[in-house]
Amino acid sequence: MSADIAVVGGGVVGSAIAWRLAQAGAAVTVYDDTAAGRASTVAAGMLAPASEAQLDNPHLLRLSIAAARRWPQFAADLADQAEQTDPDDHIGYRACGTLLVAMSAADQADIDRYRDLYQREGIEIQRWDGERCRTVEPLLSHRVNAGLFAPGDHQVDPRRTLAALIRAGAAAGVRRVAEPVTNLSELKAGRVVLAAGTWSGRLAEFPIRPVHGQVLRLHAPAGDANHIGRSIRAVNRGRSVYLVPRSNGEVVVGASSHELGFDTAARVGDTVTLLRDAVDVVPELTEYRLIETNVGLRPGTPDNAPLLGPIGDGRVVVATGHFRNGILLAPITADLITRYLTTGAEPVELRTFNAERFA
Ligand code: GLY
Repeated sequence: MSADIAVVGGGVVGSAIAWRLAQAGAAVTVYDDTAAGRASTVAAGMLAPASEAQLDNPHLLRLSIAAARRWPQFAADLADQAEQTDPDDHIGYRACGTLLVAMSAADQADIDRYRDLYQREGIEIQRWDGERCRTVEPLLSHRVNAGLFAPGDHQVDPRRTLAALIRAGAAAGVRRVAEPVTNLSELKAGRVVLAAGTWSGRLAEFPIRPVHGQVLRLHAPAGDANHIGRSIRAVNRGRSVYLVPRSNGEVVVGASSHELGFDTAARVGDTVTLLRDAVDVVPELTEYRLIETNVGLRPGTPDNAPLLGPIGDGRVVVATGHFRNGILLAPITADLITRYLTTGAEPVELRTFNAERFA
């Protein structure tokens, strides 16, 4: 193993890789030049191989399903590191499932199409009528007329996860420096892991583009015990909106999707659309406080699947392009990259998702 590894990018993916590498005995330095629009601190934290699935890419779907299975152990390992017994108290990992609801007959046709695709891919899904949806989630609008429950789609709080990864990394010996990297060849380390999200494209030649995603953070009024119990994704007039409720009363509402370069300004129209859709689905949200409006830049690739594995002469190993699923894919990415750098054996996933597929 190369004793000395530089990880460029200190979001959830880079920090998870650094932690796992340090646990495996490597000397790791993370270069973390925090930029506005970092996806890790904006993301809602859906761990949702079904409801966030890209159903036209079977390789990615399989990777996402395997990634979701890895999360309970990853959450437990991080909790152990902090001598916590409950990953919910620690990083907000909640095995709550996700309810996908349709707001009209036309929207129902949309979710039924998903149901067929999920079933074909062997993803567990339950069809509920509107009444069952409201019995389980009493705050749902009376307009909800059908739902699909994905029992394997969970959530985590990405901000708490990142903080825990930084602490766990430090305890394992990771050095973290707040220095910008403008040229990978200037780094002294024997191996370099490029995990700088959408900014990775400024440091190596491959196709990656920023995809603007605006989310809102709402908070339940003080003392309000009625809260949404699980993640909800709704199709409302053909548009998709998701609500990710934390156990502390926060709800993350997302998300827009635009290609605007590196612009990280929030857009009024997106705020209006997100709030209108969210309140249509859960009318009670009008009573909530609007706490934050943020934009994250998702790292998109031509097929919106990640870029993983060695490039060029192999000194640089890429771990980026996770698009809408960086939080879900972080643990599996960390394990694959660590296995490769510590054993030299290239897992099949690194060949499938190698950046050279676009050469
Ligand atoms: N994974 C949620 C989003 O990208 O909006």
